Amino acid sequence: MGKYIIAGNWKMNKLPSETAAFIKDVAEVTKNASCEVVCCTPYVCLSEAVKAAAGTNVKIGAENLHFEDKGAFTGEVSADMLCDLGVNYVIIGHSERRQYFAETDETVNLKTIKALSKGLIPIVCVGESLQEREAGITMDLIAIQIKKAFANISADDAKKVVVAYEPIWAIGTGKTATAEQAEEVCSGIRKILGELYCPVCAKEITIQYGGSMNAKNAAELLAKENIDGGLIGGASLVAEDFAKIVDAAK
Ligand code: PGA
Repeated sequence: MGKYIIAGNWKMNKLPSETAAFIKDVAEVTKNASCEVVCCTPYVCLSEAVKAAAGTNVKIGAENLHFEDKGAFTGEVSADMLCDLGVNYVIIGHSERRQYFAETDETVNLKTIKALSKGLIPIVCVGESLQEREAGITMDLIAIQIKKAFANISADDAKKVVVAYEPIWAIGTGKTATAEQAEEVCSGIRKILGELYCPVCAKEITIQYGGSMNAKNAAELLAKENIDGGLIGGASLVAEDFAKIVDAAK
């Protein structure tokens, strides 16, 4: 299926002054990785992270970007700014941004298009709430999120996008989706992408699972046919824990 990518999402954790040493630790403990290793850090840590990752196999990502190129958007950060720092990846549409910062399917789409146009690899997050899962509308909701996120994106560009399936009820709760639940939705996502583009294109797209993935449950999740990696929050803040997940991606 898609290329295996294990990405850490630091969220609002770690200081700029802690970043270089931590990235070096991650690089050391993941130096034999057989998958792509990414650390997505707060904006203010990116510069240090990129410098520390130079010459290692760790790639650096941001946790958000703005969809405009420049202008009067106080507090925002553009794709060009991220590229100028040497950033490779950017998380788009994380459920925390959708919930607390008014991110919508439309802004997710604009940001994804912008990231692709600048050569950044977008990690586009989708996922249902517990209420939506209990109402039996998970796949309908995910289909809408995927179709809107990929609107006006060509098949060639779509292949560069990473999709992260993150059930909201599993994020930071310690309650992981079972491997079967995660596989069901990830295979559903691949089917939708196959319909939007073509089944062969859909196979090239990396689909990650995220939500309380850790050293213990990673192997079972990553063994599933349609799970090509993980987006890791809490467990990405301890280098050894993150490395165990990277190892599980073999
Ligand atoms: P978690 O976060 O691993 O701490 O559940 C995952 C995420 O929100 O990306």
